[in-house]
Amino acid sequence: MARQRRADLRTDVLVVGSGIAGLTAALRAGRKADVLLVTKTGLAEGSTRHAQGGIAGALEPADSPAAHARDTLAAGAGLGETEAVRVLCEEGPAAITDLIAHGVAFDRADDGSHALGLEGAHGRPRILHAGGDATGSAIENALVAAVRARATGESPRSLTVDEHTALVDLLIEDGRVVGAELLATGGRRLRVRAAATILATGGAGQLFSHTTNPAVATGDGIAAAWRGGAALEDLEFYQFHPTALAVPGSFLLSEAVRGEGALLRDEHGRRFLTGLDPRAELAPRDVVARAIAQVMAAQDGRPVFLDATGIGAGRLRERFPTIDAAVRAAGSDWSREPVPVTPAAHYWMGGVRADLEGRTSLPGLYAAGECARTGVHGANRLASNSLLEGAVFGARAGDAAAREAAHRAPVDTRPSSVIPRPDASPTEARPDGASPVRWTRSVLQELLWSHVGLLRTGEQLDAAAAQLAVWHGPDPATLTTVGELEDRNLLDLARLLTAHALARTTSVGAHHRLDDPSVAPDDRTPAPAPSQEALA
Ligand code: SIN
Repeated sequence: MARQRRADLRTDVLVVGSGIAGLTAALRAGRKADVLLVTKTGLAEGSTRHAQGGIAGALEPADSPAAHARDTLAAGAGLGETEAVRVLCEEGPAAITDLIAHGVAFDRADDGSHALGLEGAHGRPRILHAGGDATGSAIENALVAAVRARATGESPRSLTVDEHTALVDLLIEDGRVVGAELLATGGRRLRVRAAATILATGGAGQLFSHTTNPAVATGDGIAAAWRGGAALEDLEFYQFHPTALAVPGSFLLSEAVRGEGALLRDEHGRRFLTGLDPRAELAPRDVVARAIAQVMAAQDGRPVFLDATGIGAGRLRERFPTIDAAVRAAGSDWSREPVPVTPAAHYWMGGVRADLEGRTSLPGLYAAGECARTGVHGANRLASNSLLEGAVFGARAGDAAAREAAHRAPVDTRPSSVIPRPDASPTEARPDGASPVRWTRSVLQELLWSHVGLLRTGEQLDAAAAQLAVWHGPDPATLTTVGELEDRNLLDLARLLTAHALARTTSVGAHHRLDDPSVAPDDRTPAPAPSQEALA
């Protein structure tokens, strides 16, 4: 196809999102196709740059992709898909080598080998990190630089970047995705036609009142894919990170801190994980988060404590410079006293169903990274597998989309129509005929946190579903701001998450139903809310 002419708003491959998956997909697709990459805010925003712990990979001779795969499947509570996990772990080292080629300087030990961290449910240290605890930022910066260089450099293929351009809906013709409708700066709507469209829009931590995710994490791609009729899967599995600092903003305290020896204690200073799992603080994330929630419930919602005092001030500063600064800015010296922590929404295991090339159930549509559900995580993601997923499956989706674009006739210029899913419009009138109820994002987030959170009951889920059914989103035809667009997506996704959680009546992995008869009575404590005191 000829070099892209911007006025035509046509491209071979449209990539939506600019975290590790989107940037990788754009670079890979850009080897063989013209690519337009759009992103809701700045190119470097998004969840990737907040990732701390690192990226898992079996790089050392003493490790193996098979061992990594075993740990991934075990953490996934029996629901991980073997083939997807095999691909993730076998292709992981090459994906990491690509990142190094893009300039990511992973930390090295004194002998020059990679310094490998340990995190929960890994059988051995295999987490590469950069800048101590600034791995996501190092990766994002390197990939952004590579994309900008490609966008401005000489190449037979064009890579164009449009920042501050948000996804509204997919364009669909004859059952095929042919691009997307977008919202640009100033409320301007535009349509981009593409032979293949890749969603890499991340998760939706903003569904909850406490999240480690940035403000942009509103699940835009998952919601648009659903409205377009794409199959979604595993939405009931939302991962709550066990240790966010119990202050407003829920700053992440990496699992790697526990990998360095930090302990979890209740408000009386007692460890509570030793009797629960032989791996104690390094048990899988769902186990640790649930244990914390139960202890917090027994403490009237007050947070537990992360005790890193045994690590030493020097090591804390050197290994975790970002966290060290944040904890100190919040007024604590964590080298001398345990700091209050609480679980917070962190990562969506479910999403748009995608095969190992990122193909979704809709022809022409691909998904990669957190917004995709490939089966690698099962019911609970293994720590530091998310950056790896973005790198491995972003590359695969980019390659596959470029191949598809090469084999398809250039997209035509017929005016296209946005075809919303027939049942996408939420019920806008209450059953009693009263007017739909107004809502705000923070009220929705509180509802999801208290009723569709870490520990759930059918009764809570029913109540949430009833409440969500009478709220109505902004009118898609008239919405002009990104905030309205996000609210519409969050409401759609809140309903979907709740419906999926209602449908799975037994507990597995990150989906814990207190009303599941197989759940031990000791595990049936109600979901806690962090005390206002802790979050004030
Ligand atoms: C962390 O550093 O604890 C987060 C890593 C991850 O989410 O995998």
